[in-house]
Amino acid sequence: MGLLVRNGEMVTVGSRKRADIYAENETVTRIGKNLETPPGTAIIDATGKLVFPGFIDPHVHIYLPFMATFAKDTHETASIAALIGGTTTYIEMCCPNRTDDALAGYELWKSKANGKSACDYAFHMSVTKFCAETESQLREIVADGTSSFKIFLAYKNFFGVDDGEMYQTLTLAKKLGVIVTAHCENAELVSRLQVQLVAEGKTGPEWHEPSRPESVEAEGTGRFATFLENTGATGYVVHLSCERALNAALAAKERGVRLSVEAVLPHLLLDKSFAERPGVEGMKHVMSPPLRAKQNQDVLWNALSRGVVDTVGTDHCPFDVEQKLLGKDAFTNIPNGIPGIEDRVNLLYSFGVQKGRIDLDRFVNIASTHAAKLFGLFPRKGTIEVGSDADLVVFDTNYRGIVSAKTQHVNNDYNGFEGMPIEGRPSVVTVRGKVQVRDGEFVGERGRGRLLKREPAYF
Ligand code: URP
Ligand code: ZN
Ligand code: ZN
Repeated sequence: MGLLVRNGEMVTVGSRKRADIYAENETVTRIGKNLETPPGTAIIDATGKLVFPGFIDPHVHIYLPFMATFAKDTHETASIAALIGGTTTYIEMCCPNRTDDALAGYELWKSKANGKSACDYAFHMSVTKFCAETESQLREIVADGTSSFKIFLAYKNFFGVDDGEMYQTLTLAKKLGVIVTAHCENAELVSRLQVQLVAEGKTGPEWHEPSRPESVEAEGTGRFATFLENTGATGYVVHLSCERALNAALAAKERGVRLSVEAVLPHLLLDKSFAERPGVEGMKHVMSPPLRAKQNQDVLWNALSRGVVDTVGTDHCPFDVEQKLLGKDAFTNIPNGIPGIEDRVNLLYSFGVQKGRIDLDRFVNIASTHAAKLFGLFPRKGTIEVGSDADLVVFDTNYRGIVSAKTQHVNNDYNGFEGMPIEGRPSVVTVRGKVQVRDGEFVGERGRGRLLKREPAYF
């Protein structure tokens, strides 16, 4: 059965027009005015609403063994939460640790998501060590359609790689045409500063930021860029949080280094005073890189509006209150991460577009299109064209609400953005032509999501 989204204002990068959109067999087949449709077509009236391509979250954690525990979501809960918030595709970090076999890890992550995700998804494959089997295993993973890697310069002895391993990963990535995403903090400095602070009795969550200061992130960002420059590989800095790191990235971009930059929701909307709240309230806001001094938020918003920060993800990483309390005696044991998969689009629209920080064109680009282009999903995802997957978000700009753990669908007992006002939300969300969400409720088919195969593109 066909689907017609009628009379909405269709917003894609570089274009805004009133149109009907008709989808059949999972894809958009016609776009135009007053389209005739066959009997039996399901009709969604989008009059007075915006219609966006499905949004893409390029950085989430769902299955994640980390810091002596596991992130709380399943692919079912996270994908339903994503869809309710307008995200129709997510890219999950597949993160086996240094002692795990990479290929076995990849198969494990796939098995966790398979048949469970309600929306489409892909993986960034983390390279957490480089040993004798690594090259052949990564070749197999790329051949399977996972054409982006992830490295961590942080998290010494767990996910972190040393400079030699980074060099080997980037050299192989260049050969395979694969983009490498990177968490850029200097692991050695973080671990030394952590030991020093704890020895001084500075154990509360307010000491998390001083243990990973801006200089530590700027160093990691600059070093990653230098390695890209000398290997010819293409890179993407994940969750860049502050002006000093941004300057390092921009200097590299100006030298011609092939580097893109991601901001994430927490760094745009929360500052380090949230992590300085007493007790568990502070712990809820511990992530890495940490929440920063407030002035960095304007820097990031500005960079987004100028187009020098390329995408906005969430770094969705849900640990509940009980898990956060693992760090009650030392901030070094607080599981790092803040959830956000459900709130990204609404908060980015509310605090970005509605507050005049970014225009609609930048909004759709940073929340959908650019990620699709960088990660080999475009034009199947990230736009509305004849032939694109019919992932559509009919967006009601008149909706007013409040973010709250009480109403969220993410599997967690707190929300880091609690109490923030929402000015606009999806009223209908489709995945490949099937309505999955109506007015904040999941009404669709669980397990509908597919693993997206992606071709290498950066030779
Ligand atoms: O604090 C964070 N960001 N947790 C998830 C792991 C990572 O570094 O992305
Ligand atoms: Zn990270
Ligand atoms: Zn992450």
